[in-house]
Amino acid sequence: MQPLINLLADGHFHPGEELGEVLGISRAGVWKQIQKLQEAGLDVQSIRGKGYRLAYPLEWLQESDIRNALRDSAAPLVKQLEILSQTPSTNDVAMKMAATGVGSGYVCLAEQQTAGRGRRGRNWVSPLASNLYLSVVWEFYQGAAQLEGLSLATGVAVASALSNLHIDGVELKWPNDILVNYAKLGGILLEMTGDPAGRCQVVLGVGLNHRLPKHASDSIDQSWCRVEDLKPGISRNALAAQVISELVLMLRRFSLEGFAPFRERWQQLDCYEGKEAVVKTGAQDIAGIARGVDETGGLVLETATGKQVLKGGELSLRLAQ
Ligand code: BTN
Repeated sequence: MQPLINLLADGHFHPGEELGEVLGISRAGVWKQIQKLQEAGLDVQSIRGKGYRLAYPLEWLQESDIRNALRDSAAPLVKQLEILSQTPSTNDVAMKMAATGVGSGYVCLAEQQTAGRGRRGRNWVSPLASNLYLSVVWEFYQGAAQLEGLSLATGVAVASALSNLHIDGVELKWPNDILVNYAKLGGILLEMTGDPAGRCQVVLGVGLNHRLPKHASDSIDQSWCRVEDLKPGISRNALAAQVISELVLMLRRFSLEGFAPFRERWQQLDCYEGKEAVVKTGAQDIAGIARGVDETGGLVLETATGKQVLKGGELSLRLAQ
């Protein structure tokens, strides 16, 4: 399929006949390959009399473009930057690398994930060349206790990256959804390997919708949005560079100071602050008014029986009906 992708990469219309001639296949053969590209998630449009085109010119992820656009202070912290064309999940790759001792500053990105994972066992829709899927490894020395609030600080870092690119209206939802107008722009999945009481490695996985094609989003069961609609024309490499920069800068600071320096910013970005909310714990629903987070990153809920602090990756938060 690569030769066909290369022909379509310019984003212009190409008649099926012309594509068939260049590729040495029939028009039906072209159509079959187009369908495969659509299945991979590419936004290929077909218009009678004009032919086929990609909704946007293709921009592949390029290590040199990303490295050149990293913030100066962040560049030395990015020890290794790997771009994969297809992988089940960048978090799986990063977890394996972490287990082999790769250490802080390993970053991997993928053009496509075939088994992208979200929180609570959910699938993360990951079509080809449309979005950002990246994972960063960082090493900590005081086990899981040192990681309290890290997923929230990660949200703050991603929000800063988007703000650096003048993408406005970004808010956070506890514990780590990135939203605009309550529609999901991105998500964060933290995983850990190593000694939970000592030296351990954390993988920060970030997925951001850049130009997620509408047809690829059929299986997403919540409202979503994408960078292209918020601020058209942002380069995926530039977006990756900002996100990676903010993540590694946050990680360096977090490893020294913990969640404290990120808490206030998180609360400013919290779209549930003061709202009536329900937390689903699996066993029960707890209703109350959302009152930000405590110093460990736990959600503070003002319930009928007093304040409760809720923690744990398996909890889910909803606005009350
Ligand atoms: C969520 O909101 O449920 C978290 C989504 C996290 C998705 C990212 S994409 C890169 C990394 N690899 C994965 O398989 N998941 C994370």
